Amino acid sequence: MHTAQKITKVFITRRIPQEGLKILSQAGVCKVSLWDSDEPVPRAELLKGVAGAHGLLCLLSDKIDTEVLDAAGPNLKVISTLSVGFDHMAMDEIKKRGVRVGYTPDVLTDATAELTVALLLATARRLPEGVVEVINGGWSTWKPLWLCGYGLSGSTVGVIGLGRIGMAIARRLKPFGVKKLLYSGRTAKSNAAEVEGEYVPLDTLVSESDFVVVSCALTPDTQGLCNKDFFCKMKNTAVFINTSRGAVVNQEDLYQALSSGQIACAGLDVTTPEPLPTDHPLLTLKNCVVLPHIGSATYSTRGIMAELSANNLLAGLQGTDMPSELKF
Ligand code: NDP
Ligand code: DGY
Repeated sequence: MHTAQKITKVFITRRIPQEGLKILSQAGVCKVSLWDSDEPVPRAELLKGVAGAHGLLCLLSDKIDTEVLDAAGPNLKVISTLSVGFDHMAMDEIKKRGVRVGYTPDVLTDATAELTVALLLATARRLPEGVVEVINGGWSTWKPLWLCGYGLSGSTVGVIGLGRIGMAIARRLKPFGVKKLLYSGRTAKSNAAEVEGEYVPLDTLVSESDFVVVSCALTPDTQGLCNKDFFCKMKNTAVFINTSRGAVVNQEDLYQALSSGQIACAGLDVTTPEPLPTDHPLLTLKNCVVLPHIGSATYSTRGIMAELSANNLLAGLQGTDMPSELKF
């Protein structure tokens, strides 16, 4: 007599680095279906793909809500996201259903901190504007008053959210001659001493900093945190940098602050929505540098993220310890 073998099904919502796929195929414990594209899976395909799945490997651009969880059904044991951020997932619903979640902290910290420093320098020293002037023939001669910006030496830097990435940013900025490093968040950090970080109320950070760097998680408390009131407290010469999530910023208020000269300039790696429409007002401003969410985008980091998310997924399927399980 033939007994039906129970197949462990996994759905992956995008083409991901080979390193991750190799781990899953070599493990030989699950049947993988992949949305084999660099573009996001259409919602209907996501709902179809996840049906009956035991494991889901998703990205930060996939909204994992009740509808997706319902479509997956009771087989679902594990969701592994190829990101450290988890604001795209309905955590309460996931918890209710006893589904385990894997994510990718630490392995992308250095790459994201590097990108944050690059964006800060590019914004403050007006690099994109300079490059355009060279190409357009706007570079007529060396001019004492042309394309001046702001330097880190002797400055006060304020980091909102001195977590893994915030701390890595602070470590990298200190050697530029930063005089004072302020930070804010829900709790003071014991490792802040390493960067001589001073825990201050948000208002103090905002009004005293020459550079405000946002590296907190997106939560109901941080959503829209950087609004009109926030920008009004900043110095007119201050530089605003966000590499956390777009929704931490009220973009209409940021546009007003930048266009009115309330603040000097802004560099954003994250926006709402993503991609930012090409006719968005922020893109008309010379003092706003927008990048397409590339904080963790180094070849090696993305490969390691894929490995980690595959190993998290396997552990979730097999009921063993995950290398990086999100405890919530
Ligand atoms: P951590 O969990 O280590 O740090 C998150 C920080 O957010 C903590 O320091 C926490 O402070 C702070 N935070 C939480 N709530 C608040 C609040 N109400 N006010 C101020 N700060 C708050 O995460 P990571 O450093 O690893 O990652 C941070 C975020 O960076 C991710 O959630 C993700 O959104 C984003 N990210 C963006 C990338 C990009 O490509 N641009 C790449 C990777 C991550 P406390 O401990 O005091 O609560
Ligand atoms: C994350 O991991 O949350 C980033 O936004 C992308 O690496």
